[in-house]
Amino acid sequence: SKDFVKISLKDDPKKFCVMPQSFVDLDLERIKNMEIFEDDVWVVTYPKCGTTWTQEMVWMIGHDLDYETSMEVLLDDRYPFLELNGIVPNYPKNMFEECINLARPRYIKSHLPLFLLPDQLWTVKPKIIYTARNPKDTAVSYYHHYHNMNGYQGTISDFIETFVKDIMMYAPMNNHVIDFWNIRSQPNILFLFFEDMKRNLKQEVKKVMKFLDKDFTQNEIDKLCTHLSFESIKKNKMINKEEDIKHLMSLEGIEYNPEKYTFIRKGKVGGYKQELTKEAIEMLDEYIKKAEFDIEYQF
Ligand code: A3P
Repeated sequence: SKDFVKISLKDDPKKFCVMPQSFVDLDLERIKNMEIFEDDVWVVTYPKCGTTWTQEMVWMIGHDLDYETSMEVLLDDRYPFLELNGIVPNYPKNMFEECINLARPRYIKSHLPLFLLPDQLWTVKPKIIYTARNPKDTAVSYYHHYHNMNGYQGTISDFIETFVKDIMMYAPMNNHVIDFWNIRSQPNILFLFFEDMKRNLKQEVKKVMKFLDKDFTQNEIDKLCTHLSFESIKKNKMINKEEDIKHLMSLEGIEYNPEKYTFIRKGKVGGYKQELTKEAIEMLDEYIKKAEFDIEYQF
């Protein structure tokens, strides 16, 4: 139902991103020119790559395991979504204002591709954590999100076709990941994978601790990993977005049915195998191959 446009760079038309016109009208300029502070902590992802999970991990580590606040304040308020008004123009809160007015150090989430993020990020160089996920599970997760929250009417195969044509919101995924992959060795960038978090969360927690210069005991790390487990996040009302989803769906005139969809859905690696046709898998394989970059996704 939204009016989508392709935003591209004048000097590099291959660099583009599909966003609603409302994003261009509301957010494009003010985000590009936003003031950045050295002590900001950004989580940037392509949608459905484990953003929420990463945010809670990073926030908890950055806040010396402050369970009290984590259990009292919505993650969306502790770690606001920068361009939400651009994509949901009738959202009642002004998220951009909220982000710029956060108490420092500010914790900010964005799904924007590198070239649409604030210019000052690349000169002030605050810490940025980027999480990637294999595109097949990402696309499946994105389909469920769209189908259940935005009233997408097509089949999952229709959705995959749209995904590989790079006409979904925030498309293209390939370039989104590549741009951050290429800067992953800069000291202010931490590049993580959803699949690594699934396989060995403790190890990824330790990477974030090192990155944020924190030190916790083994017991503290174990307790944090339990807090961050799928089962625990799924039932944690401060994190699982239940209230926000109800709200967002009502803005779109769609009825919320928790039996049908929960934001914290399956949380699996390779779950696409049960959900996609052979043709859809081939389309995605081809899409990944076309990107010609040296990431080996783990499926
Ligand atoms: P699925 O739809 O495959 O289940 P984002 O926060 O970027 O929108 O990502 C949402 C995806 O992350 C969902 O994937 C969700 O289930 C998964 N997720 C969230 N918390 C998780 C956790 N603790 N363990 C595993 N997956 C998690």
